[in-house]
Parts: sequence; structure tokens; C-alpha cells
Amino acid sequence: MKIEITVAAAVVVVVVVVVAASAVVVVVAAAAAVVVVVVVVVVVVVVIITTTVQLSKDKSRTFALKCLKKKHIVETRQQEHIYSEKRIMMEADSPFITKLHKTFRDRKYVYMLMEVCLGGELWTILRDRGNFDDITARFCVACVLEAFSYLHAKGIIYRDLKPENLLLDARGYVKLVDFGFAKKIGMGKKTWTFCGTPEYVAPEIILNKGHDHSADYWSLGILMYELLHGTPPFSGSDPMRTYNVILKGIDHIEFPKKISRPAHLLIKKLCRDNPMERLGYGKNGISDIRKNKWFQGFDWEGLMNLTLTPPIIPKVKTATDTSNFDTYPRDMDIAADELSGWDVDF
Ligand SMILES: *[C@@H]1O[C@H](CO)[C@@H](O)[C@H](O)[C@H]1NC(C)=O
Repeated sequence: MKIEITVAAAVVVVVVVVVAASAVVVVVAAAAAVVVVVVVVVVVVVVIITTTVQLSKDKSRTFALKCLKKKHIVETRQQEHIYSEKRIMMEADSPFITKLHKTFRDRKYVYMLMEVCLGGELWTILRDRGNFDDITARFCVACVLEAFSYLHAKGIIYRDLKPENLLLDARGYVKLVDFGFAKKIGMGKKTWTFCGTPEYVAPEIILNKGHDHSADYWSLGILMYELLHGTPPFSGSDPMRTYNVILKGIDHIEFPKKISRPAHLLIKKLCRDNPMERLGYGKNGISDIRKNKWFQGFDWEGLMNLTLTPPIIPKVKTATDTSNFDTYPRDMDIAADELSGWDVDF
């Protein structure tokens, strides 16, 4: 799908006008091509405001517009992460990864115009349901696995798997968002940057031994556990305690009865302390995970050609229906100007 939005990228001037309680209209001066309707605020690495926007010529075509405060990015030294996110997402073309169509910038913000996923966060659905059955969890994990398969083949590791970073599209397909920690490391290479969410961090990252795509398989095991149980296996009252339990290993974790035997065994195979022993890291790669008993009978072909009926079908009434997202208090701060020019390629 090719999106054409007639905005001169270099000279986008964004004027924010508050209209009603929850509605904001953004007028892009260059072409007035985009109208912002509803506001959803999400806090990720930096303070991020995501809104849905419509093509003015065709109101049924909506997008998500991620607005990042430049000042905040500079203060938290996230410039490289933001560029890496832009590069990787622009390049990625997979049904299991949200598309990034275009980026913009002005004095206060950088913007990412992305595919909208109106089914909401998997995190919200998990919170409301408590935990998922095998069929639901299997579909979600399978979507993530296909996204990883795509990324790893390009030498990209994701490094920030968690239910908050998984969105459902209107059909119920699961997609990865937020590539702030993703990195292109190349085949057979390792990287040393410490990053991720404490509960999902692999032991080799904590121990600063260097890590590669095997760290993503670890996090896949953690995700499986969290989806089936409702909370992740390793957690503590602060990150240090969490790291301590992670280093003790998965064998110290008591699995609740509601996690089926095949699921339990697969989680253990993904969460091996030694990255080289994790399922998916062998010479057959990810197909070893697809062939695991827990996935027995799963229709991989139907998933890949998007004909499989998802287990959770979100209620989405219109192309601008954001009711599946939690609403956060609106950020009333006027962002400060940031004019150092680091964002020249945005
Ligand atoms: C999609 O996959 C299913 C298997 O579930 C297969 O029966 C069907 O023919 C495929 N459709 C297309 C369009 O490839």
C-alpha cells in the first residue's frame, strides 16, 4: 500500500488547536492534508503522544501519528535510538510489524506516520481477561515469531518484547510496534548495549556477556508465560531483584497448573540460560519453534497468508474508533523548541 500525503517534509509546520474535550485538530500548513481526530497518549522510552489521523481526501483511511518531543529525546540521549527505529521500521515490510509510512519534523517534535492498529494493546486485553487460553496465546506468540523470523533474517534483533508493544489490528492480527531498542547487528554478530524491560531481559544481557537474536527467543518464552499466566515468571519489587531471580534461572520457577505441559516445556526450551541452547538458535532456526508440540496443528500457512481467523476479534466501529485504547490524561505541556539539528534526516 502506498500512501501519498502531500506534505513538504522539510517545512512541516504543525499548529495544534484544542477543539473539544478530547479532540485536537492538527493543521499541517504545507498541504492541510492530515486531520487529527482523537488523542491517545502512550508513555514509552520518551514521552510519546500517539494520535489517529485521517487522509483529508479519504476519511476512511486512518493512520497513527506518533509525536515525540525533541527536547526530551535530546535530554535522555535517545537520538540514535530514534534514528534506528526510523530506519528499521521504514525498511520493514511484514504483516506482523506496524508499517512506518513517513516521518516529519518541526521545531518541537519529530513525527512518525504509521499504520493504525485499532484493536488496541495486547496488554490491555490481557489485563481485562487475566490470562489467555492456549489457543489465544498460541496465535499471539505465532505472530511474534513470524515478526522475529522476518527481522532476524535481516540481521535485526528486536530486544523489547512485552505485551505493551503488541497491538491488534482491526482484524485481530498481532503486530510489533516500538522499535526504539531494535538494532541491526548483522549475522553472527553480537552487541553489548544494556536495554529492554527488566522482566524480559535475558541473563546474558544482565551479565554483559554480549547478546544476539537468541535474546529475542528468551523474551518469547517470557511472553508465553505472561500470556498464559497473567504475570511474567521473573519479577521483583525493583529491577535489581528482578535481575537476581532471572539469574537463578527458569528451573527455580514454579509453573502454575493452568500452564499446560506442552507450554511449560516450550517455555523451558526458550528460556535456557545458555543462549546457544535455546530453541530457535540451532541450525534449523525458527522452524524448530514452529514444529514444537505446543504448536501442533497450528495453521502456519493460514497465518502467513492472513486467512486464519484470529482468536480475539476486536470491536472496531469506524476507522477512527480508538475505544480499544485506554485514555490517558492529555499532556498539557507546551513542548519547548529544540533546534540543535540532530533530526535533519527526519
Ligand atoms: C492460505 O492458507 C490456507 C491454509 O490454511 C490454504 O488452504 C489457502 O489456499 C491459502 N490461500 C492462499 C490465497 O494462499
